[in-house]
Amino acid sequence: MDNRVEAVRNSATKQAPGRGFVLVATVFAALGGLLFGYDTGVISGALIFIKSQFSLSVFHQELVVSVVLIGAAVAALGGGRLADAFGRRLMLLVTSLIFVAGAIVCAAAPSLNVLIAGRIIVGLGIGLSTSTVPVYISEVSPAEARGWQVSLFQLAITVGILIAYVVDYAFASDGQWRWMLGLAVVPGAILGLGMLGMPETPRWLAKHGQADAARTVLQRIRGTQDVSSEFQEIHDTLSRVDEHGRFSDLLAASVRPALIIGIGLAIAQQITGINTVIYYAPTVIQSAGIPSASGAILATAGIGVVNVLMTILAMRLIDRVGRRPLLLTGIAGMAVSLGVLGFVFRTHEPSTSLGWLAMVILMVYVASFAISLGPIFWLLIAEIYPLKIRGIAEGTAAGTNWAANLLVSVTFLSLIHALGPALTFWLYGLLAIASFAFAYALVPETKGRTLEEIEKSWRF
Ligand code: BGC
Repeated sequence: MDNRVEAVRNSATKQAPGRGFVLVATVFAALGGLLFGYDTGVISGALIFIKSQFSLSVFHQELVVSVVLIGAAVAALGGGRLADAFGRRLMLLVTSLIFVAGAIVCAAAPSLNVLIAGRIIVGLGIGLSTSTVPVYISEVSPAEARGWQVSLFQLAITVGILIAYVVDYAFASDGQWRWMLGLAVVPGAILGLGMLGMPETPRWLAKHGQADAARTVLQRIRGTQDVSSEFQEIHDTLSRVDEHGRFSDLLAASVRPALIIGIGLAIAQQITGINTVIYYAPTVIQSAGIPSASGAILATAGIGVVNVLMTILAMRLIDRVGRRPLLLTGIAGMAVSLGVLGFVFRTHEPSTSLGWLAMVILMVYVASFAISLGPIFWLLIAEIYPLKIRGIAEGTAAGTNWAANLLVSVTFLSLIHALGPALTFWLYGLLAIASFAFAYALVPETKGRTLEEIEKSWRF
């Protein structure tokens, strides 16, 4: 290994104060993930009450749920470019304002139209957070800790989903949906206040010709004056490449493989069906044979806990065993559990024991997702792209993820209706097998490599 890279790692590992600083920056930025999880999760419980307050048709209910995904897709696609142009930190501050505004508009909405406008604003915030948070964290983290630090974003998503279930449950008895949606103001404001005290990333500063500021930030976040090796590595990489930060740069021969990997994983993360479980688990469990709504909701909360715990396990393993082994093992687990789930629905009549069996299989499925496509998708798209187009490329992958999410979410219930649950889950299982083949053939191992080393590996 290059001596300079070794020196970077050593200086990063030895300096506890700098590591603490990076962790604080990471935790604040990861609040964007918490809001993502909360705002996508909270609507399932709130919708029951919104439906009766505004007498919503099925179409309008779907609209209230899915406009968030549309807003997120649009903002993710555009947000990466903005983060390249105006900086990761500024975009995170804007994101915080948008989250706060969206929560207030939703909570105060006097009519359906205002509520839909509020949900679109929330979606814009979520999209911006997905195009900016992973990149911010990956650009401030030291190479050997980047895996688990960027995965804090996914952990925050899963915690946000869990908090949403709890808040829904807490406010359900008196139907206070305005509180359910409005509480997002709190993490939204903390995100903004926290980021006010955090620096821009050294890599974005260097790319924008602010070498002195970049060096100062590096010294601050690494907790040492001696950052010349890492600084030089960033500088060398920038001076050797000629992208200009335009969408057309994404098609350059040296970027295309990484673009295909990001877009492919974005689609894989969604078409293997994770959000049919996250959004519809109570429905699936009820249809398997647990009739009581509270039993189904409790089972859903159990799935949320498994999602959080297995993400923590992934974070412990990701910088040690690497991205590829986790990714492949997890996708294989998803394919197998989907196959078994389809089989169980095919061969058994609905009954309480089938309901519990379905729940256990769903837990295995979510556990497999949580050690693989969950964190590793967001991590890889924040580390595989060249610095000059990192935001725009990451935003393209994130936007594709939201578009695929929308597609799966709006077709799931129709698929179940048309094909039945067994064939539907087998379809997702087949798509998981295809995703495994895609990841096996194309995804590189990025464990322990600096962002600059990864960038060089595509070009030279
Ligand atoms: C996905 C979301 C999903 C969540 C579940 C994220 O990585 O992008 O669509 O709801 O994981 O934990």
